[in-house]
Amino acid sequence: MKYMSGKELRRRYLDFFVKNGHLELPSASLIPKDDPSLLMIGAGMAPFKAYFTGKMTPPRTRITTSQRCVRTGDIENVGRTARHHTYFEMLGNFSFGDYFKYDAIKWAWEFLTGELELPKDKLWATIYPDDDEAYKIWTTETDINPEHIVKLEDNFWEIGTGPCGPDSEIFIDLGEERGCGSPTCGVGCDCDRYLEIWNLVFTQYDRTEDGKYNPLVHKNIDTGCGLERLASVLQNKPSNFETDLMFPIIEYASKVANKEYGKDKETDISLKVIADHARSISFMV
Ligand code: ALA
Repeated sequence: MKYMSGKELRRRYLDFFVKNGHLELPSASLIPKDDPSLLMIGAGMAPFKAYFTGKMTPPRTRITTSQRCVRTGDIENVGRTARHHTYFEMLGNFSFGDYFKYDAIKWAWEFLTGELELPKDKLWATIYPDDDEAYKIWTTETDINPEHIVKLEDNFWEIGTGPCGPDSEIFIDLGEERGCGSPTCGVGCDCDRYLEIWNLVFTQYDRTEDGKYNPLVHKNIDTGCGLERLASVLQNKPSNFETDLMFPIIEYASKVANKEYGKDKETDISLKVIADHARSISFMV
């Protein structure tokens, strides 16, 4: 596994997908355009909903971005888990009626195990229970341990109305010492042992306001790989907050507040909350 700064990791991801035919675009504003179903951009795919539905033509059928996101659903977990924030950057590769499951899975595996050299025996994948196609691709096109493929009913991704679909998520096992110790602890457990690092969404439905799932005119790919999470793995840090993307804010806040980091659990939570909320507020402003 290679140590990488957050900045290097972002560049490596975007370059990898540019090399594979994607157009790199800058992050869109956090304020959604023409989407009354969202208050904030909370996913890499959100600015591209009209490309997925076919209402607008994308500048290219393959796009890659590092999108700034604000998600407030997990606000009460901020500072209490290793991985939750309100503000984060989502690395993503998107296909609008171009490639589908085969390339999305193959490239994700190639990037994680080839470019970043993550240990293959620590990686797990989840799939939607009846997604035999994804299972076949995982088992024939990658060298993941087939026993590390888990079927999960909630592997379906959507945000507001619009494009959505079943997904396949990639997790890394960070070791027993990071787990909750429960005998049922495994992929999908809420504790910090199995960290979800990438979500591959097979976007093929359009959810309407009255809750119907209509098939889209073409099949698409939407992926989301949390920059801070992946950085915590590559930098071998106990949480996202200790990565070079966030720790300087903690250091500054602890100096100003005259509180030492790493001595008291409640103080650490407060410093993490300050670091997270400072980033959110800055970008929202
Ligand atoms: N849109 C998907 C997510 O945010 C990739 O998890």
